[in-house]
Amino acid sequence: MIRTQQTLQTNLGNPILECTGITKRFGGLTAVNNVDFKIHNGEVVGLVGDNGAGKSTLVQIISGVYLPDEGQICVDGEKVAFSSPMDARNAGIETIYQDLALATNLNAADNIFLGREILNKKTKMFSVLDRKTMKEEARTILKELEITIPGLDRPIRELSGGQRQAVAISRSIYWNAKLLIMDEPTAALGVPEQRKVYELVGKLKERNVPIIVISHNMNDVFTVADRIVVLRRGKKVADVNVSDTNDEQIVSWMVGKDDDSKESE
Ligand SMILES: Nc1ncnc2c1ncn2[C@@H]1O[C@H](COP(=O)(O)OP(=O)(O)OP(=O)(O)O)[C@@H](O)[C@H]1O
Ligand SMILES: [Mg+2]
Repeated sequence: MIRTQQTLQTNLGNPILECTGITKRFGGLTAVNNVDFKIHNGEVVGLVGDNGAGKSTLVQIISGVYLPDEGQICVDGEKVAFSSPMDARNAGIETIYQDLALATNLNAADNIFLGREILNKKTKMFSVLDRKTMKEEARTILKELEITIPGLDRPIRELSGGQRQAVAISRSIYWNAKLLIMDEPTAALGVPEQRKVYELVGKLKERNVPIIVISHNMNDVFTVADRIVVLRRGKKVADVNVSDTNDEQIVSWMVGKDDDSKESE
């Protein structure tokens, strides 16, 4: 189902993720300072801010890398406290970091099933992987997302950056991500590959998957996001619908020349 901007704004329902008063300190430094953040199904939120603003730290809290020092996280209205990234993944929160955490010596199918392998039913006791099923399932999900990679048997190290991103995204979708987080997904990619990744973001949005995208590229943010959240020195200084702002205003919030912070709601 393709949702229009209009329906998104008027029919958001309950947030899939709601963070309240999140604070994270590293020694004397407050990396994330009392931040409220929420996202609904079908929404793409661009998370922006200057270097060191706290973007990665905030998403690492959401994805179970760090526990916050203060504040609370609710997923689907239930309070959660993830003690590991696997905890967050089990709750449906998939994060794609710039380095992707793919195993470069394994092929795409093995990567999609990494840590969640399908065992051969007949020989389950010997832990034999059901490679045939994993490969078929991988082929299906890649086809569904219209992702072309050179060969399902090729190790990931032989794929381009964009193709690796695509495999990581398929993995998240295959496992029914409730929320997808992408930290600088296109930073290391060439222009055509960046476009491909953002096309994929559009496809996931059509499937109603909410996505948080961190990016330094204002063009990308304005192309894919419905809403933009700006962090500055750990604090949220703006939370606005894309239709109510422009890149100049976002940049001024990021660097702090304009002291009027803004919330859309
Ligand atoms: N593990 C850590 N230990 C100590 N300080 C940290 C750690 N991780 C992040 N910081 C500090 O917290 C602040 C926020 O860092 P963070 O990585 O969240 O920023 P960012 O907005 O993602 O920046 P960038 O755009 O450069 O990726 C920075 O000042 C950083 O130096
Ligand atoms: Mg970062």
